Amino acid sequence: MIIAVDGPTASGKGTIAKRLAAHLGVPCLDTGLLYRAVGRQVAINNGDPDDPADALAACDFPDELMDDPVLRSEEVGGLASRVSIHPGVRKALFDRQRAFAEQPGGAVLDGRDIGTVIAPDADIKLYITASVQERARRRWMEMADREIEIPLIEIERDVVARDARDIGRKDAPLRAADDAHIIDTTEMDREAAFEAVLEKVEQALKQD
Ligand code: DC
Repeated sequence: MIIAVDGPTASGKGTIAKRLAAHLGVPCLDTGLLYRAVGRQVAINNGDPDDPADALAACDFPDELMDDPVLRSEEVGGLASRVSIHPGVRKALFDRQRAFAEQPGGAVLDGRDIGTVIAPDADIKLYITASVQERARRRWMEMADREIEIPLIEIERDVVARDARDIGRKDAPLRAADDAHIIDTTEMDREAAFEAVLEKVEQALKQD
């Protein structure tokens, strides 16, 4: 059983995917981390994230990099979004994601193109979204908890720029698969969002 969880930046899809995977007892892959590792490796190499050859060379990052907390920073998120537009990078990361999806027993993967490119054959596809303002507000709260002070307006600008790049790129742009369940969590807290997801998943599992 493959479950695809896609959605824009700061939509809460990562938290939902992890919780869903724990609930179902299957492993979860945050595919954004792969792109973040490439973005970080470009910086380590003193390369240019907008240069396809530099970005491709960074796909050889060491596995340990995936555990580096710096990958979670806003700065690395921006680099990830930039390297992710290169088709060579997406191709280089494809097999790893596909192998994870195909493991016996099933898996949950979260990202931008899981339901459309990595696993168009997924048993359940979820597209988690929320308004720009709400996603920026949630990210601002998360940062405030980590004692990082950034004006909300700057975060909102960053969310808009990330959306534009992720939706506008030619190769595997962010979009909901035609057969995805779209869940807009703008008016929901974490618990309500997870309940909404679980309802869709349980409905889909019953129909099988
Ligand atoms: O989900 P995230 O914020 O960690 O992702 C960081 C960037 O990586 C995102 O802006 C675009 C890219 N990405 C992608 O292109 N495809 C994926 N499946 C996951 C992430």
